[in-house]
Amino acid sequence: MSDIKAELTATASAMVAKGKGILAIDESFPSIKKRFDGIGIESNEENRRAYREILIDNPGAADYISGMILFDETIRQATKAGETFPAALKRQGILTGIKVDAGTSDLAGHPGEKVTDGLDGLRKRLTEYRTLGARFAKWRAVITIGAGIPTSACIEANMHALARYAGLCQEVGLVPMVEPEVLMDADNTIDTCYTVTRTTLHTLFDMLDRQDVRCEHTILKVNMVVPGKLCAQQASVSDVAAQTVRCLLDSVPASIPGVVFLSGGQSAELATAHLNAMNAGWKNLPWPLSFSYGRALQAPCLKAWGGKPENTAAAKARLLHREKCNGLASLGQYKPEMEKAA
Ligand code: G3H
Repeated sequence: MSDIKAELTATASAMVAKGKGILAIDESFPSIKKRFDGIGIESNEENRRAYREILIDNPGAADYISGMILFDETIRQATKAGETFPAALKRQGILTGIKVDAGTSDLAGHPGEKVTDGLDGLRKRLTEYRTLGARFAKWRAVITIGAGIPTSACIEANMHALARYAGLCQEVGLVPMVEPEVLMDADNTIDTCYTVTRTTLHTLFDMLDRQDVRCEHTILKVNMVVPGKLCAQQASVSDVAAQTVRCLLDSVPASIPGVVFLSGGQSAELATAHLNAMNAGWKNLPWPLSFSYGRALQAPCLKAWGGKPENTAAAKARLLHREKCNGLASLGQYKPEMEKAA
């Protein structure tokens, strides 16, 4: 096996190591501003750096966290003591990941649908990110459910871009995390989410195959199968777990080294409960199921911090608690009582 393939194999398997998952801290400038607005602090470079230092440099995190996904600004920043963030992660035994898409634009001719940008110049950017310490990358495609959507045009355009991105990542020695996210903002039922997620995943793996992307060097990051937030008929934890596992079994090749979930607007505790139910209920799946949450890991920490340096220790403790709960959920060993003890 070539050196690059051996390294991709090692990176992919480290990303989904037993009992571990990924912390997503790759919010774009508008997204981090929205989060900071929620706690009444300004989104400036130093506040973003200080907050990301709390997330990145937290003793004990490496027991539950295999990698973190950074944003372009963050991968170039450093701790107050002057250690670059990728170096701080490496010191703790955590892999550096990087979000490399350039966000979404309206899809021409398809009102209400988005396509992800960022392929132009991507090879050069990926090479630089590797030099800065990244070992995996992430690209998010957004699929919206609504009247008459998603269209096959939207699904195909987005999955094709994901395949182009994934091929470039493998060429430069970064494991591609391919993220098709079916949004949970509408009033659709869980059955509609199932159908749309299934079609999206079938299209994704067809596109990956047609672009000669190797599944064994690719990590899937995907939504759980849930009803839309505005649907009158919400689903139980066991229904979400069953529908999600059924959808994955029907769509995801066994050669994928691991599947991680985004939280997509679920509460922190519900995202943990859903992951735990899947791992407690299904023991012989072809791939490990773990987490790559943003909001569901960060929300309690961000609230505890509130932009005040004196709250740093409390914020780090809140984060570590969520990381531990989700690490246990990836083994099917989480208990809701653990929330009370915290
Ligand atoms: O791309 C989405 C993020 O990496 C995960 O964020 O868990 O808040 O949906 P989320």
